[in-house]
Amino acid sequence: MAIVPNPHGTTGLLGWIDDRFPLTKIWRDHVSEYYAPKNFNFWYFFGSLAMLVLANQLITGIFLTMHYKPSALEAFGSVEYIMRDVPWGWLIRYMHSTGASAFFVVVYLHMFRGLLYGSYRKPRELVWIFGMMIFLALMAEAFMGYVLPWGNMSYWGAQVIISLFGAIPGIGPDLVQWIRGDYLISDATLNRFFALHVIAVPLVLVGLVVAHLMALHEVGSNNPDGVDIKKNKDENGIPKDGIPFHPYYTVKDIMGVVGFAILFCSVLFFAPEMGGYFLEKPNFTPANPLVTPPHIAPVWYFTPFYSVLRAITYPLFGIDAKFWGVIGMGASVVIIAFLPWLDRSPVKSIRYKGPIFKAALAIFVVAFVVLGYMGFEPATPVNTRIAQVASVIYFAFFLLMPWYTKIDKTKPVPERVTMDH
Ligand code: HEM
Repeated sequence: MAIVPNPHGTTGLLGWIDDRFPLTKIWRDHVSEYYAPKNFNFWYFFGSLAMLVLANQLITGIFLTMHYKPSALEAFGSVEYIMRDVPWGWLIRYMHSTGASAFFVVVYLHMFRGLLYGSYRKPRELVWIFGMMIFLALMAEAFMGYVLPWGNMSYWGAQVIISLFGAIPGIGPDLVQWIRGDYLISDATLNRFFALHVIAVPLVLVGLVVAHLMALHEVGSNNPDGVDIKKNKDENGIPKDGIPFHPYYTVKDIMGVVGFAILFCSVLFFAPEMGGYFLEKPNFTPANPLVTPPHIAPVWYFTPFYSVLRAITYPLFGIDAKFWGVIGMGASVVIIAFLPWLDRSPVKSIRYKGPIFKAALAIFVVAFVVLGYMGFEPATPVNTRIAQVASVIYFAFFLLMPWYTKIDKTKPVPERVTMDH
Protein backbone atom coordinates (compact mmCIF):
# COMPACT_ATOMS: atom_id res chain seq x y z
CA MET A 1 0.00 0.00 0.00
CA ALA A 2 1.38 3.39 -0.96
CA ILE A 3 2.01 5.82 1.88
CA VAL A 4 -0.12 8.91 1.34
CA PRO A 5 1.59 11.92 2.92
CA ASN A 6 -0.71 14.17 4.91
CA PRO A 7 -1.07 17.92 4.08
CA HIS A 8 2.07 18.66 6.09
CA GLY A 9 4.12 16.20 4.07
CA THR A 10 5.05 14.21 7.17
CA THR A 11 5.27 10.42 7.18
CA GLY A 12 6.16 7.67 9.67
CA LEU A 13 5.43 8.20 13.34
CA LEU A 14 5.19 11.99 12.93
CA GLY A 15 2.76 11.53 10.05
CA TRP A 16 0.69 9.15 12.16
CA ILE A 17 0.53 11.75 14.94
CA ASP A 18 -0.20 14.61 12.51
CA ASP A 19 -3.18 12.68 11.14
CA ARG A 20 -4.60 12.72 14.65
CA PHE A 21 -3.15 15.81 16.36
CA PRO A 22 -1.89 19.16 14.93
CA LEU A 23 1.71 18.68 16.14
CA THR A 24 3.52 19.83 12.99
CA LYS A 25 0.95 22.58 12.49
CA ILE A 26 1.56 23.95 15.99
CA TRP A 27 5.33 23.76 15.52
CA ARG A 28 5.14 25.60 12.19
CA ASP A 29 2.56 28.20 13.25
CA HIS A 30 4.32 29.11 16.47
CA VAL A 31 7.98 28.27 15.93
CA SER A 32 9.52 27.36 12.58
CA GLU A 33 7.18 29.51 10.44
CA TYR A 34 6.37 32.20 12.96
CA TYR A 35 7.91 35.25 11.33
CA ALA A 36 9.26 37.68 13.90
CA PRO A 37 10.75 41.08 13.04
CA LYS A 38 14.47 40.77 12.33
CA ASN A 39 15.47 43.71 14.56
CA PHE A 40 14.81 42.27 18.03
CA ASN A 41 17.35 43.56 20.56
CA PHE A 42 18.36 43.04 24.20
CA TRP A 43 14.88 43.94 25.44
CA TYR A 44 13.35 40.98 23.63
CA PHE A 45 15.19 38.44 25.80
CA PHE A 46 12.82 38.75 28.74
CA GLY A 47 9.72 36.98 27.41
CA SER A 48 11.55 33.69 26.93
CA LEU A 49 13.42 34.25 30.20
CA ALA A 50 10.09 34.71 32.00
CA MET A 51 9.05 31.32 30.60
CA LEU A 52 12.33 29.82 31.81
CA VAL A 53 11.86 31.21 35.33
CA LEU A 54 8.25 30.00 35.36
CA ALA A 55 9.46 26.50 34.50
CA ASN A 56 12.12 26.76 37.22
CA GLN A 57 9.51 27.77 39.81
CA LEU A 58 7.15 24.95 38.83
CA ILE A 59 9.82 22.25 38.85
CA THR A 60 11.63 23.32 42.04
CA GLY A 61 8.21 23.92 43.64
CA ILE A 62 7.16 20.34 42.98
CA PHE A 63 10.30 19.04 44.70
CA LEU A 64 9.89 21.41 47.66
CA THR A 65 6.32 20.18 48.10
CA MET A 66 7.65 16.64 48.53
CA HIS A 67 9.33 17.63 51.81
CA TYR A 68 7.47 20.71 53.00
CA LYS A 69 4.77 20.39 55.69
CA PRO A 70 1.90 22.90 55.41
CA SER A 71 1.14 23.09 59.11
CA ALA A 72 1.83 25.86 61.59
CA LEU A 73 3.62 23.40 63.87
CA GLU A 74 5.85 21.85 61.25
CA ALA A 75 6.30 24.33 58.39
CA PHE A 76 9.35 26.21 59.71
CA GLY A 77 11.05 22.98 60.78
CA SER A 78 10.35 21.30 57.45
CA VAL A 79 12.05 24.16 55.58
CA GLU A 80 15.08 23.84 57.89
CA TYR A 81 15.02 20.10 57.21
CA ILE A 82 14.99 20.77 53.46
CA MET A 83 17.97 23.13 53.89
CA ARG A 84 20.05 20.82 56.07
CA ASP A 85 19.06 17.19 55.55
CA VAL A 86 17.30 16.65 52.24
CA PRO A 87 19.93 15.82 49.59
CA TRP A 88 20.33 18.94 47.43
CA GLY A 89 17.38 20.44 49.33
CA TRP A 90 19.30 23.69 49.90
CA LEU A 91 19.79 24.03 46.15
CA ILE A 92 16.14 23.40 45.33
CA ARG A 93 14.99 25.85 47.98
CA TYR A 94 17.42 28.58 46.96
CA MET A 95 16.56 28.06 43.28
CA HIS A 96 12.93 28.65 44.21
CA SER A 97 13.46 31.64 46.51
CA THR A 98 16.01 33.29 44.20
CA GLY A 99 13.74 32.37 41.29
CA ALA A 100 10.91 34.40 42.86
CA SER A 101 13.01 37.56 42.82
CA ALA A 102 14.41 36.72 39.37
CA PHE A 103 10.83 36.40 38.12
CA PHE A 104 10.08 39.97 39.11
CA VAL A 105 13.38 41.32 37.73
CA VAL A 106 12.63 39.65 34.41
CA VAL A 107 8.96 40.64 34.34
CA TYR A 108 9.67 44.28 35.26
CA LEU A 109 12.22 44.50 32.42
CA HIS A 110 9.75 42.74 30.10
CA MET A 111 7.07 45.30 30.96
CA PHE A 112 9.53 48.18 30.59
CA ARG A 113 10.24 46.99 27.04
CA GLY A 114 6.51 47.39 26.40
CA LEU A 115 6.78 51.00 27.57
CA LEU A 116 9.85 51.67 25.44
CA TYR A 117 8.42 50.37 22.21
CA GLY A 118 4.67 50.91 22.70
CA SER A 119 4.11 47.14 22.49
CA TYR A 120 0.78 47.56 24.28
CA ARG A 121 -0.64 49.70 21.43
CA LYS A 122 -3.20 48.45 18.94
CA PRO A 123 -3.44 45.56 17.97
CA ARG A 124 -1.64 44.20 21.07
CA GLU A 125 -4.00 45.49 23.77
CA LEU A 126 -5.04 41.98 24.77
CA VAL A 127 -1.42 40.81 24.92
CA TRP A 128 -0.94 43.61 27.45
CA ILE A 129 -4.15 42.85 29.38
CA PHE A 130 -3.19 39.17 29.67
CA GLY A 131 0.25 40.37 30.77
CA MET A 132 -1.31 42.49 33.50
CA MET A 133 -3.40 39.55 34.67
CA ILE A 134 -0.20 37.50 34.81
CA PHE A 135 1.40 40.28 36.86
CA LEU A 136 -1.48 40.27 39.37
CA ALA A 137 -1.43 36.47 39.62
CA LEU A 138 2.33 36.59 40.09
CA MET A 139 2.00 39.06 42.95
CA ALA A 140 -0.60 36.85 44.67
CA GLU A 141 1.60 33.81 44.09
CA ALA A 142 4.70 35.48 45.56
CA PHE A 143 2.82 36.85 48.55
CA MET A 144 1.36 33.47 49.47
CA GLY A 145 4.64 31.67 48.84
CA TYR A 146 6.37 34.02 51.26
CA VAL A 147 3.97 32.98 54.05
CA LEU A 148 4.73 29.25 53.67
CA PRO A 149 8.12 29.04 55.51
CA TRP A 150 6.22 30.38 58.53
CA GLY A 151 9.08 32.64 59.59
CA ASN A 152 8.35 35.73 61.64
CA MET A 153 8.24 37.98 58.58
CA SER A 154 5.93 35.48 56.84
CA TYR A 155 3.57 35.84 59.75
CA TRP A 156 3.71 39.59 60.18
CA GLY A 157 3.78 40.32 56.46
CA ALA A 158 0.59 38.28 56.09
CA GLN A 159 -0.85 40.09 59.10
CA VAL A 160 -0.20 43.53 57.54
CA ILE A 161 -1.40 42.66 54.04
CA ILE A 162 -4.51 40.69 55.02
CA SER A 163 -5.54 43.39 57.51
CA LEU A 164 -5.59 45.88 54.60
CA PHE A 165 -8.82 44.29 53.44
CA GLY A 166 -10.28 45.34 56.79
CA ALA A 167 -10.17 48.96 55.58
CA ILE A 168 -12.99 48.32 53.11
CA PRO A 169 -16.07 49.98 54.66
CA GLY A 170 -18.83 47.61 55.74
CA ILE A 171 -17.57 44.21 54.70
CA GLY A 172 -13.91 44.74 55.70
CA PRO A 173 -13.73 42.91 59.05
CA ASP A 174 -15.76 39.93 57.81
CA LEU A 175 -13.69 39.74 54.66
CA VAL A 176 -10.49 39.60 56.71
CA GLN A 177 -11.84 36.77 58.79
CA TRP A 178 -12.95 34.93 55.66
CA ILE A 179 -9.49 35.22 54.09
CA ARG A 180 -7.71 34.10 57.25
CA GLY A 181 -10.22 31.33 57.95
CA ASP A 182 -9.75 32.18 61.61
CA TYR A 183 -9.75 35.09 64.05
CA LEU A 184 -6.02 35.48 63.54
CA ILE A 185 -3.37 34.31 61.10
CA SER A 186 -3.14 30.64 61.90
CA ASP A 187 -2.76 27.09 60.70
CA ALA A 188 -5.98 27.48 58.68
CA THR A 189 -4.49 30.48 56.86
CA LEU A 190 -1.26 28.60 56.15
CA ASN A 191 -3.15 25.60 54.81
CA ARG A 192 -5.25 27.56 52.33
CA PHE A 193 -2.28 29.63 51.21
CA PHE A 194 -0.47 26.36 50.52
CA ALA A 195 -3.38 25.10 48.39
CA LEU A 196 -3.56 28.36 46.47
CA HIS A 197 0.21 28.73 46.06
CA VAL A 198 0.86 25.16 44.98
CA ILE A 199 -2.01 24.48 42.63
CA ALA A 200 -4.67 27.16 42.09
CA VAL A 201 -2.55 30.17 41.17
CA PRO A 202 0.07 28.20 39.17
CA LEU A 203 -2.74 26.75 37.03
CA VAL A 204 -4.10 30.24 36.41
CA LEU A 205 -0.59 31.51 35.63
CA VAL A 206 0.15 28.81 33.09
CA GLY A 207 -3.26 29.33 31.45
CA LEU A 208 -2.67 33.06 31.26
CA VAL A 209 0.79 32.62 29.74
CA VAL A 210 -0.72 30.41 27.02
CA ALA A 211 -3.41 33.05 26.35
CA HIS A 212 -0.70 35.78 26.35
CA LEU A 213 1.28 33.96 23.66
CA MET A 214 -1.78 33.03 21.61
CA ALA A 215 -2.85 36.67 21.56
CA LEU A 216 0.69 37.71 20.59
CA HIS A 217 0.98 35.18 17.77
CA GLU A 218 -2.45 36.14 16.43
CA VAL A 219 -1.25 39.68 15.67
CA GLY A 220 2.52 39.17 15.53
CA SER A 221 5.32 40.73 17.56
CA ASN A 222 6.04 44.41 17.74
CA ASN A 223 9.69 45.49 17.44
CA PRO A 224 12.07 48.26 18.53
CA ASP A 225 11.01 50.46 15.60
CA GLY A 226 7.29 49.94 16.20
CA VAL A 227 6.94 49.32 12.44
CA ASP A 228 4.23 46.91 11.29
CA ILE A 229 6.18 44.26 9.35
CA LYS A 230 2.98 42.76 7.92
CA LYS A 231 2.56 45.83 5.70
CA ASN A 232 5.53 44.73 3.59
CA LYS A 233 5.19 41.14 2.39
CA ASP A 234 6.96 39.27 -0.40
CA GLU A 235 5.22 37.26 -3.16
CA ASN A 236 4.82 34.27 -0.77
CA GLY A 237 3.04 36.40 1.80
CA ILE A 238 6.04 36.38 4.17
CA PRO A 239 6.92 39.72 5.79
CA LYS A 240 10.09 41.07 4.15
CA ASP A 241 11.41 42.14 7.55
CA GLY A 242 10.44 38.88 9.24
CA ILE A 243 12.68 35.89 10.04
CA PRO A 244 11.52 32.46 11.23
CA PHE A 245 11.51 32.25 15.01
CA HIS A 246 13.40 28.96 14.74
CA PRO A 247 16.36 28.83 14.28
CA TYR A 248 17.08 32.57 14.48
CA TYR A 249 15.43 33.53 17.73
CA THR A 250 15.78 30.16 19.43
CA VAL A 251 19.54 30.68 19.06
CA LYS A 252 19.34 34.30 20.21
CA ASP A 253 17.23 33.30 23.21
CA ILE A 254 19.75 30.61 24.17
CA MET A 255 22.32 33.39 24.41
CA GLY A 256 19.94 35.24 26.73
CA VAL A 257 19.53 32.10 28.81
CA VAL A 258 23.31 31.75 29.18
CA GLY A 259 23.72 35.38 30.28
CA PHE A 260 20.81 35.02 32.68
CA ALA A 261 22.12 31.72 34.05
CA ILE A 262 25.48 33.34 34.88
CA LEU A 263 23.80 36.14 36.83
CA PHE A 264 21.25 33.82 38.42
CA CYS A 265 23.88 31.33 39.56
CA SER A 266 26.09 34.11 40.95
CA VAL A 267 23.24 35.12 43.25
CA LEU A 268 22.12 31.56 43.92
CA PHE A 269 25.54 30.34 45.01
CA PHE A 270 27.10 33.46 46.50
CA ALA A 271 24.29 35.63 47.85
CA PRO A 272 21.00 33.73 47.97
CA GLU A 273 19.64 36.02 50.68
CA MET A 274 20.91 39.09 48.82
CA GLY A 275 21.70 40.90 52.05
CA GLY A 276 18.14 40.46 53.31
CA TYR A 277 16.48 41.70 50.12
CA PHE A 278 15.51 38.28 48.73
CA LEU A 279 15.11 36.47 52.06
CA GLU A 280 14.52 38.88 54.91
CA LYS A 281 16.37 38.42 58.22
CA PRO A 282 13.33 37.97 60.53
CA ASN A 283 12.32 35.00 58.42
CA PHE A 284 15.16 32.98 59.90
CA THR A 285 13.23 32.83 63.19
CA PRO A 286 9.92 30.97 63.48
CA ALA A 287 6.59 32.82 63.34
CA ASN A 288 5.77 34.35 66.69
CA PRO A 289 2.44 36.14 67.18
CA LEU A 290 3.84 37.76 70.35
CA VAL A 291 6.97 39.31 68.82
CA THR A 292 6.51 41.84 66.02
CA PRO A 293 9.66 42.33 63.90
CA PRO A 294 11.01 45.83 64.62
CA HIS A 295 10.66 46.78 61.00
CA ILE A 296 8.06 45.15 58.74
CA ALA A 297 8.76 45.64 55.04
CA PRO A 298 7.62 43.56 52.08
CA VAL A 299 10.09 41.91 49.71
CA TRP A 300 11.67 44.39 47.25
CA TYR A 301 9.31 43.70 44.36
CA PHE A 302 6.32 44.94 46.34
CA THR A 303 7.91 48.01 47.93
CA PRO A 304 6.98 50.56 45.19
CA PHE A 305 3.28 49.77 45.60
CA TYR A 306 3.59 49.49 49.38
CA SER A 307 5.06 53.01 49.40
CA VAL A 308 1.99 54.33 47.60
CA LEU A 309 -0.14 52.70 50.31
CA ARG A 310 1.81 54.41 53.08
CA ALA A 311 1.99 57.74 51.26
CA ILE A 312 -1.75 58.29 51.57
CA THR A 313 -2.20 59.64 55.06
CA TYR A 314 -5.30 61.80 54.74
CA PRO A 315 -8.86 60.66 55.49
CA LEU A 316 -11.39 61.66 52.82
CA PHE A 317 -15.22 61.76 52.77
CA GLY A 318 -15.15 60.62 56.38
CA ILE A 319 -13.36 57.38 55.43
CA ASP A 320 -10.10 56.32 57.06
CA ALA A 321 -6.77 57.12 55.33
CA LYS A 322 -5.99 53.37 55.36
CA PHE A 323 -8.87 52.75 52.96
CA TRP A 324 -7.61 55.37 50.52
CA GLY A 325 -4.13 53.92 50.88
CA VAL A 326 -5.45 50.53 49.79
CA ILE A 327 -7.31 52.15 46.90
CA GLY A 328 -4.16 54.07 45.92
CA MET A 329 -2.03 50.94 46.04
CA GLY A 330 -4.55 48.99 43.95
CA ALA A 331 -4.85 51.86 41.49
CA SER A 332 -1.06 52.10 41.12
CA VAL A 333 -1.04 48.53 39.77
CA VAL A 334 -4.29 48.58 37.79
CA ILE A 335 -3.51 51.86 36.03
CA ILE A 336 -0.70 50.12 34.13
CA ALA A 337 -3.37 48.02 32.36
CA PHE A 338 -4.81 51.18 30.78
CA LEU A 339 -1.62 52.16 28.94
CA PRO A 340 -2.98 51.08 25.52
CA TRP A 341 -5.64 53.77 25.83
CA LEU A 342 -3.60 56.41 27.65
CA ASP A 343 -0.83 56.62 25.07
CA ARG A 344 -2.14 58.77 22.20
CA SER A 345 1.16 59.30 20.40
CA PRO A 346 1.00 58.79 16.61
CA VAL A 347 4.13 56.60 16.91
CA LYS A 348 4.77 53.50 19.01
CA SER A 349 8.49 53.33 19.65
CA ILE A 350 10.49 55.67 21.86
CA ARG A 351 12.92 55.96 18.94
CA TYR A 352 10.43 58.19 17.16
CA LYS A 353 8.74 59.76 20.17
CA GLY A 354 9.54 63.31 21.21
CA PRO A 355 11.44 64.85 24.13
CA ILE A 356 8.39 65.15 26.38
CA PHE A 357 7.72 61.41 26.42
CA LYS A 358 11.41 60.65 26.93
CA ALA A 359 11.60 63.06 29.88
CA ALA A 360 8.33 61.74 31.33
CA LEU A 361 9.56 58.15 31.12
CA ALA A 362 12.90 59.04 32.75
CA ILE A 363 11.18 60.88 35.62
CA PHE A 364 8.72 57.99 36.01
CA VAL A 365 11.56 55.49 36.34
CA VAL A 366 13.22 57.64 39.02
CA ALA A 367 9.88 57.97 40.89
CA PHE A 368 9.36 54.19 40.73
CA VAL A 369 12.83 53.50 42.12
CA VAL A 370 12.37 56.13 44.86
CA LEU A 371 9.04 54.54 45.80
CA GLY A 372 10.74 51.14 45.86
CA TYR A 373 13.48 52.46 48.17
CA MET A 374 11.03 54.27 50.46
CA GLY A 375 9.07 51.05 50.94
CA PHE A 376 12.02 49.71 52.97
CA GLU A 377 12.50 52.82 55.05
CA PRO A 378 10.60 53.68 58.24
CA ALA A 379 7.64 55.99 57.61
CA THR A 380 9.13 59.14 59.15
CA PRO A 381 7.48 62.49 58.21
CA VAL A 382 10.28 63.28 55.73
CA ASN A 383 10.15 59.83 54.12
CA THR A 384 6.38 60.00 53.87
CA ARG A 385 6.61 63.36 52.12
CA ILE A 386 9.16 61.98 49.64
CA ALA A 387 6.88 58.99 48.97
CA GLN A 388 3.95 61.36 48.46
CA VAL A 389 5.82 63.40 45.85
CA ALA A 390 6.97 60.21 44.09
CA SER A 391 3.40 58.84 44.14
CA VAL A 392 2.06 62.02 42.54
CA ILE A 393 4.73 61.75 39.81
CA TYR A 394 3.90 58.07 39.36
CA PHE A 395 0.21 58.74 38.76
CA ALA A 396 0.86 61.90 36.72
CA PHE A 397 2.93 59.86 34.26
CA PHE A 398 -0.17 57.81 33.44
CA LEU A 399 -2.96 60.33 33.88
CA LEU A 400 -1.30 63.11 31.88
CA MET A 401 -0.17 60.72 29.15
CA PRO A 402 -3.16 61.34 26.82
CA TRP A 403 -2.21 65.01 26.84
CA TYR A 404 1.58 65.00 26.62
CA THR A 405 1.80 62.23 24.04
CA LYS A 406 -0.48 64.26 21.79
CA ILE A 407 1.40 67.57 21.99
CA ASP A 408 4.86 65.94 21.81
CA LYS A 409 6.93 66.35 18.60
CA THR A 410 7.48 62.97 16.95
CA LYS A 411 9.94 61.88 14.27
CA PRO A 412 8.84 60.24 11.01
CA VAL A 413 8.67 56.42 11.28
CA PRO A 414 10.56 54.54 8.51
CA GLU A 415 8.72 52.21 6.10
CA ARG A 416 10.89 49.22 7.01
CA VAL A 417 12.62 48.17 10.23
CA THR A 418 16.12 49.58 10.79
CA MET A 419 19.19 47.57 11.76
CA ASP A 420 21.70 50.31 12.60
CA HIS A 421 20.78 50.92 16.25
C1 HEM B 1 5.02 34.77 33.40
C2 HEM B 1 5.14 35.96 32.88
C3 HEM B 1 5.27 36.23 31.40
C4 HEM B 1 5.70 35.39 30.41
C5 HEM B 1 6.18 33.94 30.53
C6 HEM B 1 5.66 36.15 29.18
C7 HEM B 1 6.05 35.66 27.95
C8 HEM B 1 6.16 36.40 26.80
C9 HEM B 1 6.82 35.97 25.60
C10 HEM B 1 7.53 34.62 25.41
C11 HEM B 1 6.72 36.97 24.69
C12 HEM B 1 7.31 36.98 23.27
C13 HEM B 1 8.79 37.30 23.37
C14 HEM B 1 9.08 38.72 23.76
O1 HEM B 1 8.48 39.61 23.14
O2 HEM B 1 9.86 38.95 24.70
C15 HEM B 1 5.97 38.04 25.30
C16 HEM B 1 5.62 39.24 24.69
C17 HEM B 1 4.94 40.28 25.31
N1 HEM B 1 4.61 40.35 26.65
FE1 HEM B 1 4.86 38.90 28.04
N2 HEM B 1 5.18 37.40 29.43
C18 HEM B 1 4.93 37.50 30.77
C19 HEM B 1 4.45 38.60 31.45
C20 HEM B 1 4.08 39.81 30.86
C21 HEM B 1 3.60 40.97 31.56
C22 HEM B 1 3.45 41.06 33.08
C23 HEM B 1 3.34 41.93 30.61
C24 HEM B 1 2.80 43.34 30.77
C25 HEM B 1 1.93 43.70 31.60
C26 HEM B 1 3.67 41.38 29.31
C27 HEM B 1 3.55 42.04 28.10
C28 HEM B 1 4.00 41.58 26.88
C29 HEM B 1 3.91 42.29 25.61
C30 HEM B 1 3.26 43.67 25.38
C31 HEM B 1 4.49 41.47 24.64
C32 HEM B 1 4.66 41.80 23.14
C33 HEM B 1 5.95 42.53 22.99
C34 HEM B 1 6.28 42.95 21.58
O3 HEM B 1 5.82 42.29 20.64
O4 HEM B 1 7.02 43.96 21.46
N3 HEM B 1 4.12 40.09 29.50
N4 HEM B 1 5.64 37.67 26.60
